[in-house]
Amino acid sequence: MRNLELLVANWKSNKTIDETETWLHDFSEGLNKASIGLEDRRIIVAPPFTSLEHARYCAGNLKLAIEFAAQDISPFIEGAYTGAVNGKQIKEFANYVIIGHSERRREFGETDEMLEKKVAMALHFGLTPIFCIQNENTPVPQGIKIVAYEPPSAIGTGNPDTPENANNVAIKVKDRYDITHVLYGGSVTGQNVASFMQMPSIDGVLVGGASLDPLKFLEIIKNA
Ligand code: PGA
Repeated sequence: MRNLELLVANWKSNKTIDETETWLHDFSEGLNKASIGLEDRRIIVAPPFTSLEHARYCAGNLKLAIEFAAQDISPFIEGAYTGAVNGKQIKEFANYVIIGHSERRREFGETDEMLEKKVAMALHFGLTPIFCIQNENTPVPQGIKIVAYEPPSAIGTGNPDTPENANNVAIKVKDRYDITHVLYGGSVTGQNVASFMQMPSIDGVLVGGASLDPLKFLEIIKNA
């Protein structure tokens, strides 16, 4: 049986609370208008920390069958770690957390060792990590069930990997680790999503730029 599809919207460092509310409202309206069913798939939205609480509240009011992810997690437990948001706090609003995105590695100096600690914290607090790898050789920490393969050259460039190559990476990663889902990320659009979703070892997509517009994200869901 085919895996439940995961379609993840990564808003990165975008959207105020007002913009979050508008996105959810427009998404809900678009979903109803187009009669897009969300059965057999899981939609996960990753807003910035500042919008998580309100996003969850609005989704509840709109009766939207979507889930939430944080985009990062502290490698530490609660306590004297100024500026850090820990797993216990995230768990109040989200069930998932994105860990190891290449932007975190590149712009914030996150190392494999730190990412292992973040994964351990996520698991400790009952969050499901969505662990990003840049290629088939990126180490995947223990306990990971969902991996997102995102080649840095494909992120935000309009230059996606080929579905065949992404599928080959997914096969190798599934052979090597005990994981249930491999997602593809990097310049996914409504036009190319089906070519990735048709690949037997790809179980979903992680969408950045195209998820900022609710109608574009809906198109991705529709075509997936
Ligand atoms: P993109 O980003 O869809 O804008 O390429 C994907 C990601 O970084 O998660």
